[in-house]
Amino acid sequence: PDALATEANSEGVRRRDFINIAAVSAAGVGGLATLLPLISQMAPSKDVLAESTTELDISAIEPGQAIKAVFRKQPVFVRNLTPEEIEAANAVDISTLRDPETLDERTREGHHNLLVTMGVCTHLGCVPLGAGEGENKGEYGGYFCPCHGSSYDTAARIRKGPAPSNLVVPDYEFTSDTTILIG
Ligand code: FES
Repeated sequence: PDALATEANSEGVRRRDFINIAAVSAAGVGGLATLLPLISQMAPSKDVLAESTTELDISAIEPGQAIKAVFRKQPVFVRNLTPEEIEAANAVDISTLRDPETLDERTREGHHNLLVTMGVCTHLGCVPLGAGEGENKGEYGGYFCPCHGSSYDTAARIRKGPAPSNLVVPDYEFTSDTTILIG
């Protein structure tokens, strides 16, 4: 009888092992199925990464010139202000502005000549002129929106027309003295 009991026990153990292994496997598969979408969200494809940041070489932007780039499928303007444009921006009494901000607040320490803004009018989203050679910069010398006539000054602050606020300054950082990373 002892031998029989032992055999029955070991049979029971084997069956429990099987049940345990099956349960662990099911949990493993279920766990993976839950984790996979999370992992794929954490590691976006290269295309998505390329759209969410834009690295720009700013060394070739002459004073008085601006370049257009693309960030998240929207235009970005990077303007290298001349000393006269900086002076004009700083001469404005900001309490008279619709959206009061100083040039210093809209640029980075040590780089107040470099103005980075979205190239999207804050009225209804047209692309303002003024970032290309010979383009109409409007009467305040910054950007001019041809859709309904909003004029932005040399700090890209709204000065005239229906736009409610200044051109938006996106998140960006200097990765070197001559490159910035937007986004
Ligand atoms: Fe620019 Fe209307 S969209 S003024």
